[in-house]
Order: sequence, then C-alpha cells, then structure tokens
Amino acid sequence: MPLPTAELHLHIEGTLEPELAFELAARNGVTLGYADTGELREAYRFQDLQSFLDLYYALMAVLRTERDFEDLANAYLARAAAQGVRHAEIFFDPQAHLARGVPMATVVEGLWRALGRSRENHGVSTRLIMCFLRDESAESAMRTLKEAEPFLDRITGVGLDSAEVGHPPVKFREVYEAAAALGLRRVAHAGEEGPPEYITEALDVLGVERIDHGLRCLEDPRLVERLVRDRVPLTLCPLSNVRLRTVDTLADHPLPAMLEAGLVCTVNSDDPAYFGGYAGDNLDAVRAGLGLTEDRLRELARNSFLASFLDDDEELRARYLAEVEAYEFG
Ligand code: ADE
Ligand code: ZN
Repeated sequence: MPLPTAELHLHIEGTLEPELAFELAARNGVTLGYADTGELREAYRFQDLQSFLDLYYALMAVLRTERDFEDLANAYLARAAAQGVRHAEIFFDPQAHLARGVPMATVVEGLWRALGRSRENHGVSTRLIMCFLRDESAESAMRTLKEAEPFLDRITGVGLDSAEVGHPPVKFREVYEAAAALGLRRVAHAGEEGPPEYITEALDVLGVERIDHGLRCLEDPRLVERLVRDRVPLTLCPLSNVRLRTVDTLADHPLPAMLEAGLVCTVNSDDPAYFGGYAGDNLDAVRAGLGLTEDRLRELARNSFLASFLDDDEELRARYLAEVEAYEFG
C-alpha cells in the first residue's frame, strides 16, 4: 500500500497520456502529427520549460467536448488513487481552451463530471484551481476570471502558470485582488525558472498561500528564513525538475537540504504524463534517489494535507492525517 498523500501541484492537461491523446484525436477527427504513441513519446525530450510548453499546448487540440475533459480527469484520478493520492487540488488552464473555441462551461462541467463523483468512484477528494497563463496579458486573465464567475461554486482558487521568466507576479496584481474579492484562494508558480524575487512578489503582491515550485528560493537565504518562519508551503515536483533541466539529475535535487532547512515541502507530479511519473512515482524516486528516511517521507505526506485547502473540511483532513501517522512503510 502506498503512502497516503495529497497532490497539490498537478495540471490536468499534463496528465494526457499518449494513448488517450490518440483515442481523443480519433474521436474528434484531429490530426496529431505523430505516427503513433511511440513517436509521440520520442518528442518528450525537453531542454527547458518552454520546449515542454510547446508540446503541452499543441496536444490540447484533442480536448474538445465535456466527455473529453471527463475522461481525462477520470484517467488521472484512477492512476493517482492507485499511487496513494487521497486528495487532489487540480490545476486547469482555461485560456488554452478558450483560445481554441472551447467554452469555459465545457471545460469546467466536463472536469466536474469526474471530480464531483471522485470520492465515490476513486476515493479521492478534490478541489479545482483555475490557472492564468502568465505569458498572456493581465486583461486576458481578468476576462477569464469574469467568464469563470458562473462556475465559482466548483472552483476553489486561482493559480499562475506557463512561461515564467519575463512575466513577474506583479503583472497580475489586479487580477489576484479581484480573485480574492470573489473569495478565491490564491497560489502561483514562482521560482521554477524565474528568480527568487518572483517568490517574494507572489507572497507580497498577489497574497498567495502556497508557492508552486519555489526551488530558486535557495539563492536567497533571507527568503528561505522567511518561508521557514511563516511556514509557506512549497509544492515541489522532483521528476519535473529533472525533465525540464531545472536540476541536472535527481541526485542533485535540493529536497533533502530544503527539508533540513525547515522548509514546508510537498512532493507532487506537475505534468505526470510528460515527466515520467505520478505522485507516488515522485515519492518513490526521492526515497530511492535521495535517500530520504521514513520520517522525512511521512513529513512530506503530513505537509501535503496541512498545506491543502482542506481547511473547509477539517474532519476529512484529520482522517487523512491519521492515515499518514498510522502508515507502515514496506
Ligand atoms: N504548465 C504546466 N506545467 C507547468 C510548469 N511546470 N510550469 C509552468 N507552467 C506549467
Ligand atoms: Zn506546474
């Protein structure tokens, strides 16, 4: 039995496995430009974040109907459940779909068909987090937030993703203020490829409660001190960092040093179909590759539930935390 964990950094579009991509392409009459799943997998050699994003956005062409989004989410939830995920806070990128003529309702209602029944069907509780593409304009993000207003009963929070460098958090100050006024929780990618200043800005200007990635905080000891003192959770994605060359090899990943420094780290999968593993695979990889002790692994799992937005269901959170404490490593 795998260690129970919460997944807090997961792009649902990044769970599109090649097999499902071809199935949806056939269903929707979309041509993928790859002969088969093998040839598509060959394209999964990335130099950096942008080279991944190019393929990630291109493959979204196969997602057209509510059923497509439902199938995508159900496939993820089944895989996640099998790897110990008990709770998932799931990102989606509406602007990438709106730009292709797929309405907000199709995306949200399609995802909700799976998420709304996830506890019964998969034993996984869920939340939905709508991300803004930071390489699009602030006006586009604001229009997207407006379009999401009819669906806010299904959306817990907002996030910020896509190409980081050159798109600092401050660009989205007003959008995040508007999101906060609507009662939405706030997170943002920062310090993946961007500098530590983006982490500080995400906290001070956008008012985020968690930092997605945050790896580059290590370049600024005073920022590390602050993150430790304020117990700001970082949603790390070790296999993603290797594939996008943020670190050279898994053995070079600073996770052990970050835990040692007292940072509130969690381990997540980011875009598991592209980066070689789901949440449990990431935990297995850091256990084997970084020599983390059982106490450290339990700490990571505990952190994930504490950092989650389950403060609207403390009873459920307590149940998950009890499972973590009772877990016996094999
Ligand atoms: N969108 C999907 N995955 C992402 C990542 N790792 N960083 C930024 N944007 C993303
Ligand atoms: Zn991400």
